[in-house]
Amino acid sequence: MKVHPPGPPLRAMPGLLRKLVADRLALMQDAADLGDAVRVNMGPKKMYIFNRPDLAKHVLADNADNYHKGIGLVQARRVLGDGLLTSDGEVWRTQRRAVQPAFKPGRITRQADAVAEEAAKLVALLRRHEGQGPVDVLHEVTGLTLGVLGRTLLDSDLARYDSIAHAFEEVQDQAMLEMVTQGATPGWLPFPAQARFRKARRELHRVADALVAERVARMADGEQPDDALSRIIVAARAQEKDAERERQRLREELVTLLLAGHETTASTLGWTLYLLEQHPEAREGVRAEARAVLGDRIPEAADLHKLTYTTKVIQEAMRLYPPVWVLPRVAQEDDEVGGYHVSAKSDVLVCPYVMHRNPRLWEDPLRFDPERFDPKRVAGRDRYAYIPFGAGPRFCIGSNLGMMEAVFVAALVTRDLDLRMHPCHPAVPEAMLSLRMRGGMPMTVHPVS
Ligand code: HEM
Repeated sequence: MKVHPPGPPLRAMPGLLRKLVADRLALMQDAADLGDAVRVNMGPKKMYIFNRPDLAKHVLADNADNYHKGIGLVQARRVLGDGLLTSDGEVWRTQRRAVQPAFKPGRITRQADAVAEEAAKLVALLRRHEGQGPVDVLHEVTGLTLGVLGRTLLDSDLARYDSIAHAFEEVQDQAMLEMVTQGATPGWLPFPAQARFRKARRELHRVADALVAERVARMADGEQPDDALSRIIVAARAQEKDAERERQRLREELVTLLLAGHETTASTLGWTLYLLEQHPEAREGVRAEARAVLGDRIPEAADLHKLTYTTKVIQEAMRLYPPVWVLPRVAQEDDEVGGYHVSAKSDVLVCPYVMHRNPRLWEDPLRFDPERFDPKRVAGRDRYAYIPFGAGPRFCIGSNLGMMEAVFVAALVTRDLDLRMHPCHPAVPEAMLSLRMRGGMPMTVHPVS
């Protein structure tokens, strides 16, 4: 006999649907309050929400082949096409194999210098706002993460393309709008929204084409940079027979790397700097560690494992505010998850945001406490209770780079500056493709007292 997870009573559905548009995190939390496994009937479609480590493990790792990328990401396909984040099956496997060597752990040493230099630039940029009005720190760290991505994976200076961040915001807004009106086709969007979406997509394609053209010219001159961009070009040439398909493929792969690599790290940094502003002891802890390990200099690769307290702060920030707040999948075949039946074609969501705040897994879950990530306490916990980088074969390819960026930037900014949140600005998380702070992060900059 098929056993189904509990679901909300019919009368609760209008409220839930309203939340799907207005407050997706509250919707997920409401669902989780019904249990760790929940089934919501959305008309003929079923949506399962799993918030227990063993259920997450089944979907993301043990039976990952049965779960393709799902809602939200499906909409993002209009921009990302079949890039590494959104593709499935054999297409994904081939892409991951092609680009994986560019992310080898050994590369971190070389990448560290670029990250540290970009972090120092950010400090200098913020310092110019000392004694002035608030600066949107989220905007500035987004610029930093794009700069790092350019230097570490594409060997290019992305500062020339300052339109990228805005274009990504635009396409995400539209993708989200489509997601919350599931089943609607792109054509439903009001004309101005469609026009903005197309303009943003054109801009991203223009940047991707320019990056590829520059690299192809360098390769023609005999240069052989062994970074992600070169690997993507070589793979596309080998696999695509037709020039138009090759161009399309290159755009999709590059735009994917740009999106996946910068938004998430910027979100991590934004929330970390906000939490440090709110928690003076943690801020002093990070500052003392940065002074002890770095003195006055900028970090280098060997410092990473010495900045242990800062690392715990970042981990705790990603627990409370996981940049990828939901991992959406679609079941390909019927399955059984923890004894519950899941029918083919239904949406399956694993929600790190909710699981990371589940009181059955975390003591006093809303409290910011970096010591939760003390290695002894981590060892006593289910590995799948904490999944900011996902799990299983689709585990984040850039996790080492993202962590290093977050640790270096948090250490340098905290050592050198005091950031204060604008008192009238509420810190409200907004669940877009990544977890943003609504309205950005206006902060004033002060010298360290
Ligand atoms: C702190 C920063 C980051 C966080 C929290 C993060 C989080 C994640 C998560 C949760 C996934 C899995 C998505 C899923 O299973 O549906 C993922 C995948 C991915 N991430 Fe990251 N990420 C970060 C940094 C980066 C960086 C720096 C890059 C560099 C390009 C990157 C590139 C990717 C790519 C390409 C994928 C798709 C991998 C695949 O499906 O094979 N990420 N990331």
